[in-house]
Amino acid sequence: MAKMWAGRTDGVTEQIADDFNSSIRFDSRMYRQDITGSMAHAAMLGATGILPQKDCDTLIDGLDGILQDLESGKLAFDMSCEDIHMFVEQELTNRLGDVGKKLHTARSRNDQVALDIRMYLREETDTVSSLVKELIRAVTAQAETYKAAIMPGYTHLQRAQPITFGHHLMAYAMMLLRDLDRLADCRHRMNQSPIGCCALAGTTYPTDRRFEAAKLGFDGICLNSMDGVSDRDFCVELLSAFSILMMHLSRFSEEIILWSSWEFKFVELSDAYTTGSSIMPQKKNSDMAELVRGKTGRVYGDLMALLTTLKGLPLAYNKDMQEDKESIFDACDTVEMCLKVFTGMVSTMTANTDRMKKAAQTGFINATDLADYLAKKGLPFRSAYKISGSIVAHCIAEGTVLEDLPLKEYQKFSDLFDEDVYQEISLETCVRKRISEGGTSVASVEAQIAYVKEKIGE
Ligand code: ARG
Repeated sequence: MAKMWAGRTDGVTEQIADDFNSSIRFDSRMYRQDITGSMAHAAMLGATGILPQKDCDTLIDGLDGILQDLESGKLAFDMSCEDIHMFVEQELTNRLGDVGKKLHTARSRNDQVALDIRMYLREETDTVSSLVKELIRAVTAQAETYKAAIMPGYTHLQRAQPITFGHHLMAYAMMLLRDLDRLADCRHRMNQSPIGCCALAGTTYPTDRRFEAAKLGFDGICLNSMDGVSDRDFCVELLSAFSILMMHLSRFSEEIILWSSWEFKFVELSDAYTTGSSIMPQKKNSDMAELVRGKTGRVYGDLMALLTTLKGLPLAYNKDMQEDKESIFDACDTVEMCLKVFTGMVSTMTANTDRMKKAAQTGFINATDLADYLAKKGLPFRSAYKISGSIVAHCIAEGTVLEDLPLKEYQKFSDLFDEDVYQEISLETCVRKRISEGGTSVASVEAQIAYVKEKIGE
């Protein structure tokens, strides 16, 4: 069958060329945006007198009928159409005859597709944002539960200083808050309407772009028609925000995997979010966390694919840009699925607070506090640091820990040591006294929780 755009050519193409060119199998998911956009376009054509109002009412009714029939399943996509835009126009013309052919006045598929993706991604951005909020809620609830649970804090994956599990969890809540911020920022630039840019140069019809933009909930319009049809920055920005979000989930996953290992045994994942092995009966694997970590690479790939597609494109529209969709759709699906699974996994995870505490008791993680003890008694910190280091070395040689070293041993290193040293280096004191803003003290963790809750509107 000849194409709708037959004219210059007879519109007859090879099957393999059609298959290669066609995008309906992935862009049909934008049918709602395409039809809503077309209804606004028809309304604008009527309001400006470009088309008789009667025709525009017919077009709007026809489009509404197509939307309803698609939603109810009465109408199926014709996969032989080139894309969703051609499908809707073809169906409209089948239903309305010549009036249907008037819809494409004063627009092009170039501004139409740009409009559809912006509208589609606007919704996806909102969906992802609410899923991130749910995850923040789950993380914060766990932090509340474990705000006083002492565990080792690490640098270089070596035990460093005592912290609470609540404090560790709130670090992720802060990352996720920034992700929310990035999504909102992204949405802000995305929400400018390209419709009316037409093929690239604008149009000779007396259109009202702002009428159409306002009808579709945009904050404004793209101010250069060539930019309007060739801009995919908002896709790249969204993919970047997604990539950073996935990077956070991946780091969190890595920790959950470590913490679930026999070596750590800091957390226990719910059976509902783990799998077994087909051969090793003892296994309880953290597959969900591993998959989230793995799928992070996939989202990075989507970002790289689109950046690479766009880098050499001359203005304005080029068919290369059709490649934006599979990347961005795949990223949306992946991110949404990961967030849902991750939230379930985190909210059902329990901490083994005894194991955490035990791990904190070895590894000399209160050595900084020992140095601070001397420094607070007047010794310059660097000298105090050196003495504490020697005491740690001595304890390692003697097979003991700072808490058990007798006072008279301490006093061999410095006469500033007194009975109060034991109180000062107890893990509880180490945590309780870290009251600096953003520190690990329970009071600080409570303040962080309150801040995050306020930010997500609770
Ligand atoms: N399916 C196309 C895309 O996704 C729609 C725009 C086609 N425009 C054109 N001039 N061929 O980019």
